[in-house]
Amino acid sequence: MAYYDKADPATADYVAVATTDELPNGSRKLLEIDGRVLAVFNIAGTYYCIADVCSHDDGPVAEGELQDHEIECPRHGAHFDVRTGKVLSFPAIVDIPAYPVRVDGEQVLVGLPPAE
Ligand code: FES
Repeated sequence: MAYYDKADPATADYVAVATTDELPNGSRKLLEIDGRVLAVFNIAGTYYCIADVCSHDDGPVAEGELQDHEIECPRHGAHFDVRTGKVLSFPAIVDIPAYPVRVDGEQVLVGLPPAE
């Protein structure tokens, strides 16, 4: 499934997704780029990006409760680390993608797999 791909930080295509003003500390932004649903977080001044697709049942995960770096899927309660996409609890058992993020001036950029 396309949502479960990975992006190598060295070869990814970096796409501007927000300005730093749009993403103050503690905020998140949900967006779609070419059919790929993403969630970008600012946690204590560092930006992270995950696919907004839960690996349990493909539900949106990013509107769930965030505790430190751990997000809870609002559908059935699986937990993931937004830094890495690593699954932390059932009912999900598969990691979700976490994409590299860069800041260039006031632009927040997410690295996506290069188009084939
Ligand atoms: S869809 Fe996320 S835990 Fe079920």
